[in-house]
Amino acid sequence: MTAITESRPLLALKNSQKAISRFPFPFSGESYMYSVNVVPAGQGAPGTFDEHLFDIDEHYLTEMAERERILAEDYGRRYLTLPNMMDAQWDFLEMGLTHLAKDYPEHFTLERSGNNWSWTNKLLGIEKDFIFGDAATLPSEPLEWVGRQMQGDFCLLDQREDDLYLDAGLVTFPADWSLPFDLGMSFEHWHGPVPIAHDLGVFKRAKKFLMNLEVDQPWQRFNWTMTVNPRLDTAPEIYHLWGPDKTLVNIETVAELVHLRVEVQVLARLPRSHGVLFSIRTYMIRMDELVENPEWAKRLRRVLVSLADEIADYKGISRYRSALIEWLTPYETDK
Ligand code: HEM
Repeated sequence: MTAITESRPLLALKNSQKAISRFPFPFSGESYMYSVNVVPAGQGAPGTFDEHLFDIDEHYLTEMAERERILAEDYGRRYLTLPNMMDAQWDFLEMGLTHLAKDYPEHFTLERSGNNWSWTNKLLGIEKDFIFGDAATLPSEPLEWVGRQMQGDFCLLDQREDDLYLDAGLVTFPADWSLPFDLGMSFEHWHGPVPIAHDLGVFKRAKKFLMNLEVDQPWQRFNWTMTVNPRLDTAPEIYHLWGPDKTLVNIETVAELVHLRVEVQVLARLPRSHGVLFSIRTYMIRMDELVENPEWAKRLRRVLVSLADEIADYKGISRYRSALIEWLTPYETDK
């Protein structure tokens, strides 16, 4: 591992009008509390963020380049897999490549003849023939190889002894959680730091739901937080690089610094290994982009006003919550 450079250029993640209009705004009501908020995945209307199981959008090249940079710098903490996960890795490879080729034929093609597979990724200029099931025919393990070609982070879970274990992951864009810390943990253990939800029984219900996932019936859910500056990589190991940004937020800077960060998470049964895929596709929208939709601005403000302090603290937004609420006040129409 080379030393992590102290300054990092900010990513070019500005959203086009199209990206703003298809942004996965996560709040259906005016308040927020943890729940088992799952719906069938990839069922959205044409053009929406969840038309397909794995969304490819205008930030594809930026995000793939950022993943390469992070892996070059910090590989050992961002790609981790236990030996029992090889079947699950191949399951993931099959799911990823077949969906991309079916959903984006202009960018990706997959030809299969028995175990002889041929893959083309026009966006990244990759052409590869390989033997399905033979890792020696790929440049890296299947999870890593496919993960370097798909937006989002990917965790593979092993289901055994009536529990789920986080036994493999490619995670370069975590919202303040640590893959090396969580690797090998069980469902309720890695969710240990989350406030309130354990007492509500959310994780017991969520685990039961996940243990019963069925092949070809994937589900999705939203999670959300906020990030200062367009930083996808907010790993706790590099907190010193992004944490201090929070002190920059005030009423004058909110519009350009604060981003609503939404994760569209897919939960899918892996057919051969009986494992579970958990993918985390992160979308960011700057406050001045978000308020182009005044209804979103109003709803976000109401969510922030009523949000439990423990949740605001856990999400790391307490320091600038009041500045943001104040800045959003013009969008509150029922003053
Ligand atoms: C099975 C795959 C899943 C994985 C790998 C996963 C992983 C994680 C991780 C690593 C965290 C951060 C914990 C920390 O602070 O260190 C987290 C947070 C959380 N997870 Fe999960 N999770 C999964 C499924 C679910 C499901 C099905 C639910 C449904 C209720 C859920 C609800 C939550 C909630 C509410 C948080 C707190 C998020 C926040 O307030 O920002 N997770 N999850």
